[in-house]
Amino acid sequence: MAELENPFEENLLNRNRAEPCTVVIFGATGDLTNRKLIPALYNVAACGDLPPQFKVVGFARRDKSDEVFRAELEEGNRRNSRQGHDEELWSSFAQNIHYHRSEFEDPAGYVRLKQLLDRFDRERGAPANRLFYLASAPEAFVPILDMLRASGLNHAPQGRWARVVCEKPFGKDLITARALNDTVAATFAERDTYRIDHYLGKETAQNIMVLRFANALFEPNWNSRYIDNVQITCAENLGMEGGRGGYYDTAGALRDMVQNHLFQLLSLVAMEPPTDLSADSVRDEKVKVIRALRPLIGPEAVAANVVRAQYAAGSVDGVARVGYRQEDRVNPQSMTEAYVALRLFIDTWRWQGVPFYIRVGKRLPKKATEISVHFKKPPQVPFATRRLLGNSSENTLVIRIQPDEGIAMRILCKQPGQALNMQQVKMDFRYSSSFGTASPEAYERLLLDAMAGDATLFARCDEVENAWRFIDEIQRAWHYSDKPPPMCEYPAGSWGPREADELLRQDGHQWRLL
Ligand code: BG6
Repeated sequence: MAELENPFEENLLNRNRAEPCTVVIFGATGDLTNRKLIPALYNVAACGDLPPQFKVVGFARRDKSDEVFRAELEEGNRRNSRQGHDEELWSSFAQNIHYHRSEFEDPAGYVRLKQLLDRFDRERGAPANRLFYLASAPEAFVPILDMLRASGLNHAPQGRWARVVCEKPFGKDLITARALNDTVAATFAERDTYRIDHYLGKETAQNIMVLRFANALFEPNWNSRYIDNVQITCAENLGMEGGRGGYYDTAGALRDMVQNHLFQLLSLVAMEPPTDLSADSVRDEKVKVIRALRPLIGPEAVAANVVRAQYAAGSVDGVARVGYRQEDRVNPQSMTEAYVALRLFIDTWRWQGVPFYIRVGKRLPKKATEISVHFKKPPQVPFATRRLLGNSSENTLVIRIQPDEGIAMRILCKQPGQALNMQQVKMDFRYSSSFGTASPEAYERLLLDAMAGDATLFARCDEVENAWRFIDEIQRAWHYSDKPPPMCEYPAGSWGPREADELLRQDGHQWRLL
């Protein structure tokens, strides 16, 4: 084989060697399995990447047969499969899906699960690897792990592996996350533990490292000397559809999105180059960013740097929407935020003095996640007396995570004509036009990685705990102080409360228009 020129190539070649296994999904009758997991596995099969001798066992409480379970999943796949639904492929794929009824806390259910897995092994003529996927309600994670340990299912058959994938939320604060980490650690080794953060599986999120570390152009400028501020926006036009209000009202934007997805994006943007692309080297660098976040302690610091808000009635895409507190399954007196904006500082040499602004919210005008890196103005502009057309003179690098995945660079150019007028123009790279194929769904990539034993795109226990440590201080100021910072308001369908605009205006900045 030709010698590889760089570690990125090596890493890419090593990807996706999923090993034969049985995936046991706990909470298999839930929305996640139907909408995301099975369509992801089906699409992996459609790409020819599914390992041979692959099986899925759905573990849940409701009584149903394999046939009924498969029919429900087929319906879900028709609606959610990225590459459509092929009858023939589905029927060969679905033959290997089985249903196992049991309560999560019932030891007998695990004895029967073991018998079922042993039977599959006998039919195959060899023991299989086992991937246990916790997709149940989070309260069931600990009982399931306890039962896996008590039944010995956490130990792989000789020469095989047993791994666990944990869905979010991974705890609801530092104490609960630690307790969950302890139970996981008593059951599986950290190298066999895969904490899902589906944002890490998104194609453009993975591209952040390639953009930064495989191009000589950006890295020399990627610091406080050249970068003025960084903005990360994760906007959703959805509200509490599909009965989500019940869960969401106990979580809020900070726990639901910032502690995990947004901090993962922040880490990828701000981390130092890893020495290699092994899971631990990458995660070592990411966790250093979270540890270097300047803590926001006490209600004053929180009020000065964090804006929380709920949406009032308004309209999104021309459709009238109720306010957050009127949503189904939301407490009418709720003090849970549906929007949060933060100004953060990372206390490292690289980022000293550079504000990182993060905002995330429901019922904003559209669905869009992007990172924009705003560069400082040149020290001296010989064209200062000439007219600048357009509203901004700074260079901006925009990484569009979704939709319309791509990277754009805004630079100043001379307008054609006799006069020396300048205008901002956009150099745009779009995944869809450059590569011509749709990117795989995040879950396709992450499931394959878990089957291949690559934990790079999964959160490590210390990442999760350090993120909670930071978030807990904000929660404390909001919910347990004498003078809690206010809950602001914005009309559904607007870009958030004016207090969030004010947060940037204080620094002479404004949110990038999306
Ligand atoms: C989930 C959150 O993790 O991510 C949801 O719990 C949110 O509240 C969702 O809607 C957004 O994911 P995506 O991939 O649609 O941006």
